[in-house]
Amino acid sequence: MCGIFGCISSINEASSEVLEGLRKLEYRGYDSAGLAAIFPGQDGPIETERTTGYVSDLVSKANGRFRGARISIGHTRWATHGGVTDSNAHPHSSNDGSITIVHNGIIENTSDLKERVEKLGYSVNSETDSELIVHLLHHEINSQAASRTVLDAFESTVSLLSGSWAIAAIIADMDEILVARRGAPLIVGRGHKRICVSSDVQPFYGVCSEVAYLNDGDIFSISEAGISSLNQGDEPPFETLEGTWEEEDKGNFQHLMLKEIHDQPISVSNVLGGRISSDGKRAGLQGFELTPEEMRGLKRINLVACGTAFFAAQIGETYIRELTNVDVHSFRASEFPADYVCGPNTLTIGITQSGETKDTLDALQQAKFTGGNISSICNVIGSTIARLTGNGAYLHAGPEYAVASTKAFTNMVASLLLLALTISDATSVRKARIVQELRELPNKISAQLLDMDDSLRSSVEILEASKSAVFIGRGISAPLVKEGALKMMEIAYLPCLAYPGGELKHGPIALIEDGTPVIAVAPKDETIGLMESSIRECRTRGAKIILITDQEGPIADIADEVIITQSSGRECSPMINVVPLQFLAYHLAAEKGLNVDRPRNLAKSVTVV
Ligand code: AGP
Repeated sequence: MCGIFGCISSINEASSEVLEGLRKLEYRGYDSAGLAAIFPGQDGPIETERTTGYVSDLVSKANGRFRGARISIGHTRWATHGGVTDSNAHPHSSNDGSITIVHNGIIENTSDLKERVEKLGYSVNSETDSELIVHLLHHEINSQAASRTVLDAFESTVSLLSGSWAIAAIIADMDEILVARRGAPLIVGRGHKRICVSSDVQPFYGVCSEVAYLNDGDIFSISEAGISSLNQGDEPPFETLEGTWEEEDKGNFQHLMLKEIHDQPISVSNVLGGRISSDGKRAGLQGFELTPEEMRGLKRINLVACGTAFFAAQIGETYIRELTNVDVHSFRASEFPADYVCGPNTLTIGITQSGETKDTLDALQQAKFTGGNISSICNVIGSTIARLTGNGAYLHAGPEYAVASTKAFTNMVASLLLLALTISDATSVRKARIVQELRELPNKISAQLLDMDDSLRSSVEILEASKSAVFIGRGISAPLVKEGALKMMEIAYLPCLAYPGGELKHGPIALIEDGTPVIAVAPKDETIGLMESSIRECRTRGAKIILITDQEGPIADIADEVIITQSSGRECSPMINVVPLQFLAYHLAAEKGLNVDRPRNLAKSVTVV
């Protein structure tokens, strides 16, 4: 979603830094981009440019005009208030062009603020909530007592806002960037001859050697000298930044998503690495504040997550329920009833790839507020959620750039299985069996990736000819088919329904008619007999059955297409069976010529509620 990047450069390269920073924030998803700059010795309004489209469009439109800037701020916008137009793109400037701001988040009291701004005589030139901030700031600066500073004016402006924000503002004739955050991330980075501000840490790799994370409620001025606040001593400390920027690279694949699907054997090896004992008998997930013993004594574990991460959490819930005696529940973060399910002696774990998802962040904050323990299982190191929780485990999936999450899902499921094993009361024989299967998992995923044959192609043809699809699974495969359906909807835009097989007859079976594709995931586990019945119920009503199974024989005989999967124990099956589901969605989207990696309306990092 929206991204902010700002820079003060002592060698006057601020705008190039900003354009590069925006390019590195592109993966978050956006629909327009813009930048503003102040040049050494400049007189007159701040120079700005903005456009719908990509950062590359902004670079063309700017046409070298911004070279030699000392201070610059830029923005990638994912539309919330107001359509995708040039005039709604950021930055937004005061009517006289002396102040320019960029904003992420949502201002909730816009009607009141708009009335106020118009009464003050400003003309509002966009449909955004963000533009109002710049007029309010202009008014504060120009109406306050001479003894007060611009930072005072900025603080007064921010105090008028309700909602969420990360704001960066620049003022002509000033050598500073004013920044404020509440509910949307903002990080300051310091490197050779530059100090920068960014929505996330990624653009700082290789550019800044130190970073300082702003906290909710912070209001600062950034200058070459560092960070300053109205109350000296409030400034966050700089810490050393380690890590490297990995360029979005499709390699030899047609799309990032396809590459990331193929990354899974390695990314799964990485999540398991160091977490399985050398004798291969034990596995454990370290990094949690609570010891395994303390976790076993908890009243309850809550897993909170959104989208794909939520389906991983649902599978994780099954693992924890079956392998431990702890009461466990997974929740969609946006519907988390914290007051009823959190408190001392509970642990709420946020599961998230980006570590920036606002709904998950809010759920964890609510859990913390009740006095409960919080942790996270997250992919992006140093992300807001990783820092909020301060304990938990990283997914080590490597950067995931395609909007549709693939390898992060698999690593979430693997991590949750490791967590369940860590606190498990199961017999050592059972645990050793699961650990052995985990050890074999990367090879099985590799084999599965190679196994994609004619049946997959024919299945894609069935889906191509249809206007919708139904996914069914039971037991541990019930949340997995929801993930399959989500993948299909988000990148191939095919309306899908996903149900536990047994629920079909209670309503959704009414939708099945001649030719309706039914994608059934039926590994050989305790549910296979019941799955056979569900499949027959669909087939009798004319459905075209695409079966994903590791079983030849009777169940395969009733399907139109059978995608054979690698056999494994029940626990590991979702991490293998997800591969054909990912492929079905991917190939259908690619066949349709859709933008697989950047599907419409979606963002990689969902930082609004
Ligand atoms: C996955 O394909 C989706 N794009 C989306 O559902 C995603 O999983 C969800 O927004 C949660 O993101 P997170 O893992 O970064 O918290």
